[in-house]
Amino acid sequence: MPEDHFGEEVAAHYDDPSDERFQPAAIEPVIDLLAELAGDGAALELGIGTGRIALPLAERGVEVHGIDLSSAMVARLRAKRGGEEIPVVIGDFATARAEGTFSLAYLVFNTIQNLTTQDEQVACFENVAAHLEPGGQFVIEVGVPNLRRLPPGETVRAFALTEAHVGFDEFDVARQGLISHHYELLDGAWQPHSVPFRYVWPSELDLMARIAGMTLVGRWSGWRREPFTSESTSHVSVWRKG
Ligand SMILES: C[S@@+](CC[C@H](N)C(=O)[O-])C[C@H]1O[C@@H](n2cnc3c(N)ncnc32)[C@H](O)[C@@H]1O
Repeated sequence: MPEDHFGEEVAAHYDDPSDERFQPAAIEPVIDLLAELAGDGAALELGIGTGRIALPLAERGVEVHGIDLSSAMVARLRAKRGGEEIPVVIGDFATARAEGTFSLAYLVFNTIQNLTTQDEQVACFENVAAHLEPGGQFVIEVGVPNLRRLPPGETVRAFALTEAHVGFDEFDVARQGLISHHYELLDGAWQPHSVPFRYVWPSELDLMARIAGMTLVGRWSGWRREPFTSESTSHVSVWRKG
């Protein structure tokens, strides 16, 4: 089982209404696209967490199930209105099996990168394919690796510098790895927190999908189907099974 980086301390501060990702303006387009892709079928969220996306999607009328490694994150989901009704398997989304079949599976907020080897990321695609009905679709939202911003000879790049949060990514280009280091001011004390990731290229995800029997049907730079270009810093991609 992979290491759980979303234990009680992270879960307690995960939901942050001041963060734009938690605001209705950011969430509504996500729900619009996911609900459209799910159609009349059920949806499976890999890394369901505290239900930031799953709960509004369920409120939209979609039957949502989830898989997550972190009991602490899922406890937050359970404490929210409607959270008790969502079936969640505690386990690794590269291998864990949720009951039933799905018209849609989705993995948002860069979470494919929490799987730190290529083998695990491929296994995740294969696991998704095993859950999808024929014609079912898999959506990933993830950043484009930002190596263009890493000058030759450098390994570290800052991504946050505020009075309460200092964050920097440490790249290991040979291994396609990065560690995100956070220092957050919580209750007057700086708390360090580091999480390892494996960054992954859009074309590499397409090959993983092909290994798992899926084909790319859409790639955009955002949830409103904005064009994906050479300057895009993240993407929303959709693969179809069969
Ligand atoms: C960044 S949070 C995203 C939560 C939620 N999807 C959202 O958009 O707010 C990542 C979540 O994925 C879970 N996670 C990370 N790696 C996992 C794995 N290998 N298997 C299952 N869950 C995992 C974490 O426990 C955490 O709840």
